[in-house]
Amino acid sequence: MSAPLKNDLFLRALLREPTPRTPVWMMRQAGRYLPEYRATRAQAGNFLKLCMTPDLACEVTLQPLRRYALDAAILFSDILTIPHALGLGLEFEAGEGPRIDRPVRSARDIDALPSLDPERELRYVMDAVRVIRRELDGKVPLIGFAGSPWTVGTYVVEGGSSKNFQHIKGMLYGAPSDLHRLLAHLTRATTDYLNAQIAAGAQAVMIFDTWGGALSPAAYREFSLHYMTEIVANLHRAADGRRVPVILFTKGGGAWLADMADSGADALGVDWTTDLGTARLAVADRVALQGNLDPSVLYAPPAAIRAEVGRVLASFGQGHGHVFNLGHGIHPDVPPEHAAAMVDAVHELSPPYHR
Ligand code: CP3
Repeated sequence: MSAPLKNDLFLRALLREPTPRTPVWMMRQAGRYLPEYRATRAQAGNFLKLCMTPDLACEVTLQPLRRYALDAAILFSDILTIPHALGLGLEFEAGEGPRIDRPVRSARDIDALPSLDPERELRYVMDAVRVIRRELDGKVPLIGFAGSPWTVGTYVVEGGSSKNFQHIKGMLYGAPSDLHRLLAHLTRATTDYLNAQIAAGAQAVMIFDTWGGALSPAAYREFSLHYMTEIVANLHRAADGRRVPVILFTKGGGAWLADMADSGADALGVDWTTDLGTARLAVADRVALQGNLDPSVLYAPPAAIRAEVGRVLASFGQGHGHVFNLGHGIHPDVPPEHAAAMVDAVHELSPPYHR
């Protein structure tokens, strides 16, 4: 039996249940802006080894919780563990981002993809989840995650990060049935992967659709939202007698929030280009919202950070169902004290919105 949760504000807010204040965590909260993260990564040798060593992945997961009064921990891993497990050859070159040695570009490449057993090929991730749950000892809930099939697909087809998505968009418009087969394959792998994380102890899961916003509205529905909806429909939504909430985050997806609310997710991530009040009207209180401070606000001094936190809280307004977060990952060159200013401001300024 796992320890009872001492702080369940995050899970309750995701289900739009009453909380005395707004819970808060940060996307990429374990990362390079923390000197202790850089030290542990050096100890591991490189980023991938850090992900693949459960005790060290646990250590960096817990580091931000030692500094800040956060209401959730997020598994330390990456969305590219799936292409790695599919044998496509993943490398992270320092300062260059990810590279995939054998990109998937043809119908034949797609047919050759192996199926995935997450408890075998991605066992190190489940081991990390189990170690983190044990070490958290019920302090806050643990978030598991995966990339959306479309977003992981962009790396798999392009072979790395991309500006114009030349190859995958060529496939989308020129050979759409091939792309659909690839996305269906990634959807099966991602569903099994997230269900394995839930079985191992993840108490909420988030799907990162970082590049969904690069699609036209019609292509977004057909090539990204459709597959995320299929994943949501097939997730195990309860564990330990509690609901396991699902968060969908499409960066740049502000115009599609109403469609996303039909996916069956409990909550939607919102980036800083959409006002939370507008987002709330769009989803008509069907789902909770997570976001959406511009991560670059953390370059400003603490007084300015506090003012912007106040603005985000006011934009959501009175009532429950808001999880405070950045609108995207924290930048690697932000001073750690500035993250503290943000978290403290959420603790101090949010209670009046819950009375
Ligand atoms: O949020 C957390 O603290 C958990 C860890 C986490 C990482 N990656 C660790 C990481 C999460 C949730 C991710 C998700 C991820 N990975 C996304 C989607 C979220 C987003 O930010 O939009 C994407 C697109 C990736 C793919 C990826 N991983 C890229 C493009 C890069 C290189 C770019 C960069 O930021 O350096 C990574 C590397 C990566 N993943 C790092 C971390 C901490 C930096 C690696 C390092 O330590 O050098």
